[in-house]
Amino acid sequence: MARDITLIPGDGIGPEITDATLKVLAATGLVFNWDRQLGGMAAVAATGDPLPEATLASIRRTRLALKGPLTTPVGGGFRSINVALRKEFELYANVRPAKTIVHGQRYDNIDIVLVRENLEGLYIGQERWVERDGDPHGQAESVAVVTRSGSERVIRYAFEYAAQHGRKKVSIVHKANILKNTSGLFLEVGREIAKEYAGRVEMNELIIDNCAMQLVMRPEQFDVIVTTNLFGDILSDEISGLVGGLGLAPGGNIGTSAAIFEAVHGSAPDIAGQGIANPSALILAAAMMLDHLGETAAGDRVRRAIVATIVADEVRTRDLGGTASTGEFGDAVARRVV
Ligand code: NAI
Ligand code: MG
Repeated sequence: MARDITLIPGDGIGPEITDATLKVLAATGLVFNWDRQLGGMAAVAATGDPLPEATLASIRRTRLALKGPLTTPVGGGFRSINVALRKEFELYANVRPAKTIVHGQRYDNIDIVLVRENLEGLYIGQERWVERDGDPHGQAESVAVVTRSGSERVIRYAFEYAAQHGRKKVSIVHKANILKNTSGLFLEVGREIAKEYAGRVEMNELIIDNCAMQLVMRPEQFDVIVTTNLFGDILSDEISGLVGGLGLAPGGNIGTSAAIFEAVHGSAPDIAGQGIANPSALILAAAMMLDHLGETAAGDRVRRAIVATIVADEVRTRDLGGTASTGEFGDAVARRVV
């Protein structure tokens, strides 16, 4: 039976990489019932609302979405629709794997899964302006909230993921030396949960700034990383750089009532509409979605097709030093899905 899935092509390069991804998914032979919905700037243009009720209703029904990037205005303007979707569907764990595809580069044999807390910390949107020195914008304040229950479920997710995927170590990344309460609570909970997994999954702790440095000096020491929202946002872009950049970095937002799969990257306005974006990140996110549906064999076929296209066929988009367009690359991957 065809599975119902909400599809949000999104903004910027979103529609281009979505087209390529749909071709690859079709090549698996599985049949999906795509419910196309709007979000972000595309939704503002069509309906005046960046997150239309129809989009929410669709995800409530399907409990599963494949989503392109959504543009968020910098500074003022509407709040992030990505953050709103994560909140609406309690998508508490953001799973971002990064694995080397092209060997013999500056970094080799990278295989890191970052699990980012996706709902709390500084991303709750409690910010305000305070008057200072007669200037209404003389001071800005932001509230960070970390809860024991929120930390528990995401850290448990990371350890459980490690145990189930045969991974050896979970690194808890924090800033508890300075943020003694918010980061301190996350670390305290991490230490407790690590005890439950003693003998099965190793645990180590790193302060965020050291972790950022260790990632570029000795990335091979990392296996699974679990961290709070902002640190996870920054580290996942850094980690994507170890495997060839944002064009190769997928992510899954896992929640209690739904799951949304997307690329780590944004709408890339600098290259949008040119047909040169790398669709691999969204294709790999679609493979994670297949795993989530229990179709792990199909997920593996898609991942192998990406590797075969990039490595054996040497068909590559510009970000990886090639000349293939988004469409040509997508077609090449689809042909490789066997
Ligand atoms: P970005 O990730 O869109 O782009 C950063 C750089 O990476 C750019 O030079 C871009 O050309 C390149 N890049 C990204 N994806 C690529 C791909 N698939 N192939 C080739 N090159 C690629 O980040 P930026 O420019 O900071 O943000 C643009 C917009 O995207 C903002 O409005 C931001 O809020 C939004 N955004 C949305 C996300 C989402 O929907 N989950 C995540 C991150 C940002
Ligand atoms: Mg980000």
